[in-house]
Amino acid sequence: MPRKVNYGPDYDDNYDEYDYGYEVDENETPPQKETIKHSVWRCSICTYDNDETMSSCDICGVLHGPLLNNSIYDKKRTANIFDLKSSRVSSTVVGRDEAVKVSSMRSDSSNQSTEKGKHNRLDEINILKNIEVGPPAGSRTSDNCSASVQEGWLGHVDESSVAVNLRSRGKSSLSLMPKERNVMVDDSSSSRNGGEANSLTSNLENISFAAKSRHSNDAKPGRAISRAQYKPEKWMLPEKAEHSLTQLNLAIVGHVDSGKSTLSGRLLHLLGRISQKEMHKYEKEAKLQGKGSFAYAWALDESAEERERGITMTVAVAYFDSKRYHVVVLDSPGHKDFVPNMITGATQADASILVIDASIGSFEAGMDGTKGQTREHAQLIRSFGIDQLIVAVNKMDAVDYSKERFDLIISQLGAFLRSCGFKDSSVSWIPLSAVENQNLVSAPSDFRLSWYLGPNLLDAIDSFQPPTREFSKPLIMPICDVIKSPSQGQVSACGKLEAGAVRSGSKLLILVLVMPSATIATVRSLERDSQACPIGRAGDNIAVSLNGIDGNHVMAGGVLCHPDFPIAFAKHLELKVLVLDGATPILIGSQLEFHIHHAKEAARVARISFLLDSKTGKVVKKAPRCILAKQSAVVEVILQEAVCVEEFSKCKVLGRVFLRTLGRTVAVGIVTRIVEEQQ
Ligand code: GTP
Ligand code: MG
Repeated sequence: MPRKVNYGPDYDDNYDEYDYGYEVDENETPPQKETIKHSVWRCSICTYDNDETMSSCDICGVLHGPLLNNSIYDKKRTANIFDLKSSRVSSTVVGRDEAVKVSSMRSDSSNQSTEKGKHNRLDEINILKNIEVGPPAGSRTSDNCSASVQEGWLGHVDESSVAVNLRSRGKSSLSLMPKERNVMVDDSSSSRNGGEANSLTSNLENISFAAKSRHSNDAKPGRAISRAQYKPEKWMLPEKAEHSLTQLNLAIVGHVDSGKSTLSGRLLHLLGRISQKEMHKYEKEAKLQGKGSFAYAWALDESAEERERGITMTVAVAYFDSKRYHVVVLDSPGHKDFVPNMITGATQADASILVIDASIGSFEAGMDGTKGQTREHAQLIRSFGIDQLIVAVNKMDAVDYSKERFDLIISQLGAFLRSCGFKDSSVSWIPLSAVENQNLVSAPSDFRLSWYLGPNLLDAIDSFQPPTREFSKPLIMPICDVIKSPSQGQVSACGKLEAGAVRSGSKLLILVLVMPSATIATVRSLERDSQACPIGRAGDNIAVSLNGIDGNHVMAGGVLCHPDFPIAFAKHLELKVLVLDGATPILIGSQLEFHIHHAKEAARVARISFLLDSKTGKVVKKAPRCILAKQSAVVEVILQEAVCVEEFSKCKVLGRVFLRTLGRTVAVGIVTRIVEEQQ
């Protein structure tokens, strides 16, 4: 059964800390607190008590009023959930550690204000499609190569734990491991002493020489070698003869309550990853709590709060195998308060399933310009570079498997997806019912769906193009979570390997550079799918257990990288951004939340350099005062604290950003230039 482990930044902790930049007149009388008490209406989908003034449910967005025929819908849903007729159950029982959960966030909707967008039209502008990545002005020169450096980070020594201080970019040494247990090599001292590291083997001397050459070559230590000049070692490349399945990280996204967790749970059950015994347990427990219809979702929604509220709050990770892929399911939360958590999961994805609730009123709620997460999720995943999409039109049972309804959804959502930059040829549309098990892993058995002749969901997953991986580039692993075991003095960094590879072995000394602390650690062991593994390669979600580093120097939002290819750490950046339709304008001085891979920082817009034509990317105005919805521009932002970052042209995953404010994504963009790197 899948297990969820909370990790990642708790976004809610600092949610209120930011000054959003709105000027407050101190003499102004503070607004009076609302004292009028409104009566409430109970949402028939999620049972949340909404204020009577709300026209749709604040939790699930379902419209209040005649649009929704909930009584029929609910009866059907409750009747079907216990009818597990077509489950083919394998005896495989998957341990609770088969899945982990990324990024945690406490629920607190109180500080999320609803932003009323003015535009609800479907003709959204392209997100990043037309934004060209020009040659970054003032980009750092980094082409003098040291041929010996690659040998420097892999050695074959007996010491199990070695800590090496690296004085990178003028940072002082941060390694704090006890000296009696670890051999410390200070690269600067090794420079002075001609690389003398008496107690170390010759391989470690290589390391210090490599560091020395790097440092003496450039005023910016560690950035002297271009990533393009890196030569991978043989073990880093997957063997052609390998019969193992390609890993596919699959983000399940969509509006709240569309059935993402139910669909994921049902798939896992059908594919034998959740045993019948476990399923019975969920059914019993869910029924006892009056949440019978959530039995499948409980396989993914593990926390008491998630189960009680009937919503996913953090991303759950689970695994199953299809014919072609080892699929890593990233079941995301759909509620608007948890978009930052959804982002944490979706940034790791290679492809995505956008789950739509076909029932009357619910599809429309998801498409709502201000509250609908269907639109925001689609825009976000496209801006993360995901271009392969399955649209799972779920709950078809609630609309009598109507072809007309399915076609209407295709025409409305299809136009929107096109405007986000998805190509028609890369989007598959699958009508299904997770609860009634129609069209998930086999052709539909319900005659009402006989009009559909396309592939089932599992076949559609197998039709995804295999993701391209950067196996032969230097290691990059953005850290999305850190697991510490203080009793054993161990720390593990978890995340998806975006580039390169890493390995472990008792006879090997594998060094990695942990940013932003600029500390070198050794790799103790690796885990993939909660199982020890000798090698992790680009595309794998792994946990890297580290030695020789203080746990406080490993943090979510940081990056594990190759010691000779440290990634940048900066707070002053130039970006190309596109302000989303319906979003509030961005002004000079606007205070925003800046998100990049697994890091989040408060940011101030310091300059708006140019307004660009969002179709051609050409400059249409210099130094405008604001960027309106649907406009794109080049801006400079200054972050409160520096983040690990690269220019998009050099490393896509570390160069994609998006800006949020008041609980809403206002712009997506890319880093075009690092204006000033932290020293
Ligand atoms: P969040 O994670 O909170 O965004 O919700 P979710 O998208 O994961 O939805 P979840 O799986 O929790 O399901 C929400 C409700 O929809 C539950 O009551 C499910 O039983 C119901 N549901 C899911 N799939 C179907 C379906 O195919 N048909 C019907 N009728 N109901 C469904
Ligand atoms: Mg869910």
